[in-house]
Amino acid sequence: MARKPMIAGNWKMYKTAEEGAELAQGLGERIRLHWDDVDVVICPPFTALKSVSAAIGSGGPNIGLAAQNVHWEEKGAFTGEVSVPMLADLGCSWCIVGHSERRGMFGETDESVARKVRALLAAGIDPILCVGESLETRDSGATDSFVRGQVRAALEGIPADDAARVVIAYEPIWAIGTGLTPDAEAANDVCRAIRAMIGTLFGQSVAIQVRILYGGSAKPENLGQFMAEPNVDGALVGGAALDAASFSAMVETASLYL
Ligand code: 13P
Repeated sequence: MARKPMIAGNWKMYKTAEEGAELAQGLGERIRLHWDDVDVVICPPFTALKSVSAAIGSGGPNIGLAAQNVHWEEKGAFTGEVSVPMLADLGCSWCIVGHSERRGMFGETDESVARKVRALLAAGIDPILCVGESLETRDSGATDSFVRGQVRAALEGIPADDAARVVIAYEPIWAIGTGLTPDAEAANDVCRAIRAMIGTLFGQSVAIQVRILYGGSAKPENLGQFMAEPNVDGALVGGAALDAASFSAMVETASLYL
Protein backbone atom coordinates (compact mmCIF):
# COMPACT_ATOMS: atom_id res chain seq x y z
CA MET A 1 0.00 0.00 0.00
CA ALA A 2 1.45 3.33 -1.04
CA ARG A 3 1.54 5.93 1.69
CA LYS A 4 0.53 9.41 0.60
CA PRO A 5 3.42 11.84 1.06
CA MET A 6 2.98 14.57 3.65
CA ILE A 7 4.73 17.90 3.91
CA ALA A 8 4.05 19.71 7.17
CA GLY A 9 5.28 23.19 7.98
CA ASN A 10 6.00 23.98 11.62
CA TRP A 11 6.03 27.75 11.88
CA LYS A 12 7.23 27.67 15.49
CA MET A 13 7.03 31.15 17.10
CA TYR A 14 6.87 33.05 13.83
CA LYS A 15 4.10 34.99 12.06
CA THR A 16 1.36 37.21 13.45
CA ALA A 17 -2.25 36.44 12.61
CA GLU A 18 -2.12 38.69 9.56
CA GLU A 19 1.28 37.49 8.32
CA GLY A 20 0.14 33.90 8.74
CA ALA A 21 -3.01 34.42 6.69
CA GLU A 22 -0.92 35.99 3.94
CA LEU A 23 1.53 33.09 3.87
CA ALA A 24 -1.30 30.54 3.83
CA GLN A 25 -2.97 32.33 0.94
CA GLY A 26 0.25 32.42 -1.03
CA LEU A 27 0.75 28.72 -0.44
CA GLY A 28 -2.77 27.86 -1.52
CA GLU A 29 -2.18 29.52 -4.85
CA ARG A 30 1.15 27.78 -5.42
CA ILE A 31 0.28 24.22 -4.45
CA ARG A 32 -3.10 23.86 -6.16
CA LEU A 33 -1.70 21.34 -8.65
CA HIS A 34 -0.48 18.96 -5.97
CA TRP A 35 -3.48 18.73 -3.65
CA ASP A 36 -4.31 15.23 -4.72
CA ASP A 37 -0.76 13.94 -4.48
CA VAL A 38 0.49 15.33 -1.19
CA ASP A 39 -1.07 16.01 2.20
CA VAL A 40 -0.01 19.54 3.03
CA VAL A 41 -0.30 20.66 6.65
CA ILE A 42 0.66 23.96 8.23
CA CYS A 43 1.20 24.53 11.93
CA PRO A 44 0.96 28.22 12.84
CA PRO A 45 1.23 29.52 16.40
CA PHE A 46 -2.04 29.44 18.39
CA THR A 47 -2.64 33.15 17.80
CA ALA A 48 -2.69 32.72 14.02
CA LEU A 49 -4.85 29.56 13.86
CA LYS A 50 -8.08 31.44 13.32
CA SER A 51 -6.89 33.77 10.57
CA VAL A 52 -4.98 30.97 8.83
CA SER A 53 -8.01 28.70 9.08
CA ALA A 54 -10.11 31.37 7.38
CA ALA A 55 -7.45 31.92 4.72
CA ILE A 56 -7.18 28.23 3.81
CA GLY A 57 -10.90 27.60 4.10
CA SER A 58 -12.21 30.38 1.93
CA GLY A 59 -10.67 29.72 -1.46
CA GLY A 60 -10.71 25.95 -1.06
CA PRO A 61 -6.98 25.24 -0.93
CA ASN A 62 -6.68 21.78 0.47
CA ILE A 63 -4.29 22.51 3.31
CA GLY A 64 -4.62 20.86 6.71
CA LEU A 65 -4.38 22.99 9.83
CA ALA A 66 -2.35 21.89 12.84
CA ALA A 67 -1.48 23.31 16.23
CA GLN A 68 2.01 22.97 17.67
CA ASN A 69 0.98 21.81 21.12
CA VAL A 70 -2.09 21.09 23.25
CA HIS A 71 -3.13 20.26 26.80
CA TRP A 72 -4.77 16.91 27.48
CA GLU A 73 -7.54 18.19 29.75
CA GLU A 74 -10.73 19.48 28.16
CA LYS A 75 -10.88 22.59 30.32
CA GLY A 76 -9.92 23.84 33.74
CA ALA A 77 -7.54 26.01 35.71
CA PHE A 78 -4.49 25.57 33.47
CA THR A 79 -3.20 29.07 32.86
CA GLY A 80 -1.62 29.52 29.48
CA GLU A 81 -2.78 26.19 28.08
CA VAL A 82 -5.05 25.38 25.14
CA SER A 83 -7.35 22.35 24.98
CA VAL A 84 -8.23 19.84 22.28
CA PRO A 85 -11.83 21.14 21.85
CA MET A 86 -10.46 24.66 21.40
CA LEU A 87 -8.27 23.41 18.55
CA ALA A 88 -11.12 21.48 16.98
CA ASP A 89 -13.25 24.61 17.14
CA LEU A 90 -10.69 26.46 15.01
CA GLY A 91 -10.60 23.76 12.37
CA CYS A 92 -7.44 21.92 13.37
CA SER A 93 -7.30 18.39 12.10
CA TRP A 94 -3.71 17.79 13.22
CA CYS A 95 -1.52 18.68 16.19
CA ILE A 96 2.22 18.37 16.77
CA VAL A 97 3.07 16.56 20.00
CA GLY A 98 6.39 16.12 21.75
CA HIS A 99 8.51 18.43 19.62
CA SER A 100 12.08 18.37 20.94
CA GLU A 101 11.89 22.11 21.64
CA ARG A 102 9.00 21.41 24.00
CA ARG A 103 10.70 18.40 25.52
CA GLY A 104 13.99 20.26 25.95
CA MET A 105 12.83 23.74 26.95
CA PHE A 106 9.36 23.34 28.44
CA GLY A 107 9.49 20.14 30.43
CA GLU A 108 7.49 17.92 28.08
CA THR A 109 7.88 14.30 29.17
CA ASP A 110 7.07 10.94 27.61
CA GLU A 111 4.14 10.81 30.01
CA SER A 112 2.65 14.16 29.00
CA VAL A 113 3.21 13.29 25.35
CA ALA A 114 1.27 10.04 25.82
CA ARG A 115 -1.63 11.89 27.45
CA LYS A 116 -1.77 14.44 24.66
CA VAL A 117 -1.76 11.73 21.99
CA ARG A 118 -4.72 10.01 23.65
CA ALA A 119 -6.72 13.22 24.12
CA LEU A 120 -6.22 14.19 20.48
CA LEU A 121 -7.13 10.78 19.08
CA ALA A 122 -10.28 10.64 21.20
CA ALA A 123 -11.41 13.96 19.72
CA GLY A 124 -10.66 13.07 16.10
CA ILE A 125 -7.50 15.18 15.74
CA ASP A 126 -4.50 13.30 14.35
CA PRO A 127 -1.21 13.67 16.24
CA ILE A 128 2.12 14.40 14.57
CA LEU A 129 4.37 12.76 17.13
CA CYS A 130 7.96 14.05 17.18
CA VAL A 131 10.85 11.86 18.22
CA GLY A 132 14.59 12.21 17.80
CA GLU A 133 17.95 11.84 19.48
CA SER A 134 20.53 14.32 20.75
CA LEU A 135 24.05 14.33 19.36
CA GLU A 136 25.25 12.68 22.56
CA THR A 137 22.82 9.81 22.12
CA ARG A 138 23.80 9.48 18.47
CA ASP A 139 27.51 9.43 19.34
CA SER A 140 26.94 6.72 21.91
CA GLY A 141 25.31 4.54 19.25
CA ALA A 142 21.97 4.45 21.08
CA THR A 143 19.83 6.29 18.51
CA ASP A 144 17.57 3.41 17.49
CA SER A 145 16.79 2.22 20.98
CA PHE A 146 16.23 5.78 22.23
CA VAL A 147 13.84 6.67 19.43
CA ARG A 148 12.02 3.34 19.63
CA GLY A 149 11.56 3.98 23.35
CA GLN A 150 10.00 7.38 22.64
CA VAL A 151 7.57 5.80 20.18
CA ARG A 152 6.64 3.05 22.62
CA ALA A 153 6.14 5.48 25.50
CA ALA A 154 3.85 7.68 23.43
CA LEU A 155 1.72 5.02 21.74
CA GLU A 156 1.72 1.77 23.71
CA GLY A 157 -1.80 0.72 24.65
CA ILE A 158 -3.78 2.79 22.17
CA PRO A 159 -6.10 0.89 19.80
CA ALA A 160 -4.47 -0.19 16.53
CA ASP A 161 -7.04 1.78 14.49
CA ASP A 162 -5.99 4.92 16.29
CA ALA A 163 -2.30 4.15 15.87
CA ALA A 164 -2.74 4.08 12.10
CA ARG A 165 -3.81 7.74 12.24
CA VAL A 166 -0.62 8.91 13.94
CA VAL A 167 2.11 10.52 11.86
CA ILE A 168 5.59 10.23 13.29
CA ALA A 169 8.20 12.91 12.65
CA TYR A 170 11.75 11.72 13.11
CA GLU A 171 13.72 14.86 13.93
CA PRO A 172 17.31 14.40 15.12
CA ILE A 173 17.75 17.26 17.59
CA TRP A 174 21.20 18.11 16.25
CA ALA A 175 19.77 18.65 12.77
CA ILE A 176 17.10 21.15 13.80
CA GLY A 177 17.91 24.68 12.70
CA THR A 178 21.59 23.85 12.23
CA GLY A 179 21.85 23.20 8.50
CA LEU A 180 23.20 19.74 9.39
CA THR A 181 21.37 16.63 8.26
CA PRO A 182 22.00 12.92 8.57
CA ASP A 183 22.69 10.99 5.39
CA ALA A 184 19.40 10.03 3.82
CA GLU A 185 20.31 6.37 4.36
CA ALA A 186 20.98 6.93 8.04
CA ALA A 187 17.64 8.74 8.42
CA ASN A 188 15.95 5.85 6.63
CA ASP A 189 17.55 3.36 9.03
CA VAL A 190 16.03 5.16 12.03
CA CYS A 191 12.66 5.46 10.26
CA ARG A 192 12.81 1.73 9.56
CA ALA A 193 13.44 1.08 13.27
CA ILE A 194 10.44 3.28 14.10
CA ARG A 195 8.27 1.33 11.67
CA ALA A 196 9.47 -1.93 13.17
CA MET A 197 8.44 -0.67 16.61
CA ILE A 198 5.00 0.23 15.27
CA GLY A 199 4.81 -3.31 13.92
CA THR A 200 5.73 -4.75 17.31
CA LEU A 201 3.10 -2.66 19.07
CA PHE A 202 0.25 -2.78 16.56
CA GLY A 203 1.01 -5.37 13.88
CA GLN A 204 2.27 -5.27 10.33
CA SER A 205 -0.82 -3.79 8.69
CA VAL A 206 -0.57 -0.70 10.89
CA ALA A 207 3.18 -0.48 10.40
CA ILE A 208 2.81 -0.22 6.64
CA GLN A 209 0.14 2.49 6.95
CA VAL A 210 1.86 4.84 9.38
CA ARG A 211 3.59 7.77 7.77
CA ILE A 212 7.02 8.73 9.01
CA LEU A 213 8.41 12.17 8.20
CA TYR A 214 11.97 13.39 8.33
CA GLY A 215 12.61 16.75 10.05
CA GLY A 216 15.71 18.85 10.70
CA SER A 217 17.08 21.39 8.20
CA ALA A 218 14.89 19.91 5.48
CA LYS A 219 14.78 22.23 2.48
CA PRO A 220 14.03 22.17 -1.24
CA GLU A 221 17.64 21.24 -2.04
CA ASN A 222 17.80 18.11 0.12
CA LEU A 223 14.22 16.85 0.33
CA GLY A 224 14.46 14.60 -2.73
CA GLN A 225 17.24 12.55 -1.11
CA PHE A 226 15.09 11.80 1.91
CA MET A 227 11.91 11.18 -0.09
CA ALA A 228 13.75 8.63 -2.23
CA GLU A 229 14.22 6.42 0.84
CA PRO A 230 11.58 3.74 1.33
CA ASN A 231 10.73 4.53 4.95
CA VAL A 232 10.54 8.32 4.63
CA ASP A 233 7.08 9.56 3.65
CA GLY A 234 7.55 13.30 3.83
CA ALA A 235 8.99 16.06 5.96
CA LEU A 236 8.28 18.24 8.95
CA VAL A 237 9.77 21.54 7.89
CA GLY A 238 10.77 24.45 10.11
CA GLY A 239 12.63 27.41 8.62
CA ALA A 240 11.91 26.54 4.98
CA ALA A 241 8.17 26.52 5.74
CA LEU A 242 8.14 30.26 6.46
CA ASP A 243 8.48 31.15 2.81
CA ALA A 244 5.76 30.29 0.29
CA ALA A 245 8.22 29.66 -2.54
CA SER A 246 10.48 27.23 -0.67
CA PHE A 247 7.63 25.39 1.07
CA SER A 248 5.68 24.95 -2.15
CA ALA A 249 8.85 23.75 -3.90
CA MET A 250 9.02 21.03 -1.26
CA VAL A 251 5.39 20.10 -1.84
CA GLU A 252 6.18 19.81 -5.53
CA THR A 253 9.17 17.56 -4.84
CA ALA A 254 7.08 15.35 -2.57
CA SER A 255 4.43 14.96 -5.29
CA LEU A 256 7.01 13.07 -7.36
CA TYR A 257 7.15 10.32 -4.74
CA LEU A 258 3.47 9.37 -4.55
P1 13P B 1 14.23 23.32 10.75
O1 13P B 1 13.63 22.82 9.45
O2 13P B 1 14.22 24.82 10.85
O3 13P B 1 15.54 22.68 11.04
O4 13P B 1 13.22 22.83 11.91
C1 13P B 1 12.83 21.50 11.94
C2 13P B 1 11.77 21.35 12.96
O5 13P B 1 12.01 21.42 14.14
C3 13P B 1 10.39 21.13 12.48
O6 13P B 1 9.55 20.77 13.52
